[in-house]
Amino acid sequence: MRRKYVVGNWKMNLVLSEATALVEGLKDGLSKDLTVDVGVCPPFVLLAPLSKVVAGSPIELGAQNCYFEPKGAFTGEISPQMLKDVGCSTVIIGHSERRHVFGETNPLLKKKIQAALAAGLKVIYCVGEKLDEREAGRTEAVLHEQLHEVLGADISLAQVTIAYEPVWAIGTGKTATGQQAQDAHAYIRREIEKLYNSQTAQEVRIQYGGSVNAANAQELMSQPDVDGALVGGASLKVNDFLGIIKGAMAATGA
Ligand code: 13P
Repeated sequence: MRRKYVVGNWKMNLVLSEATALVEGLKDGLSKDLTVDVGVCPPFVLLAPLSKVVAGSPIELGAQNCYFEPKGAFTGEISPQMLKDVGCSTVIIGHSERRHVFGETNPLLKKKIQAALAAGLKVIYCVGEKLDEREAGRTEAVLHEQLHEVLGADISLAQVTIAYEPVWAIGTGKTATGQQAQDAHAYIRREIEKLYNSQTAQEVRIQYGGSVNAANAQELMSQPDVDGALVGGASLKVNDFLGIIKGAMAATGA
């Protein structure tokens, strides 16, 4: 059984005082019998101070991006080793905003994933189609490219989670229906089986992301191939994020 995995991607939001209050609120509100995995991905500058706030709690600390070199003359970049050093266990790679706002390409993302895994980080690798691609019937073609050009024999999936985030659902309030999410997740799992094998396909967790909230979380995560959520806006408020975690637990029958 794949354990559900709910992660908050804070994007470029919150200053230290707000972030500390949010994490303290989550710690207070999390069930003592948590049956799902939970993480938060704050902006880089908050990672070191927040690693002390999450210490001793089940909340994983992740980053939203990293570079693939360990160190050197790369002004403005952060290495996987630096993330490990401040207490991060996880990094998001290939978020649609990295792809579409900052022009990150599949070959670059492959290098980033390899470097992050080599440094001992877990990776959340994001894929997803844009609205015009969905409307042109190209959803599977886009996912195919994002999976096959990046993953494969040279990347073990043991420490990788895939996040399916349809770009048209991100920050728009337009969520994929349970069925749309399930169809895309099942497709991704079939492609993972082709790239690896059936055991890896059955074991890899696939999160859904795109306007997940406390009201739709349970329905989405009840789909057989939806193993969690990558949450933007609703991860910035204690009660909203706790509601999503509750939805994930309800979807597991807890
Ligand atoms: P929203 O939940 O704000 O739509 O963002 C989703 C997302 O991009 C998470 O990575």
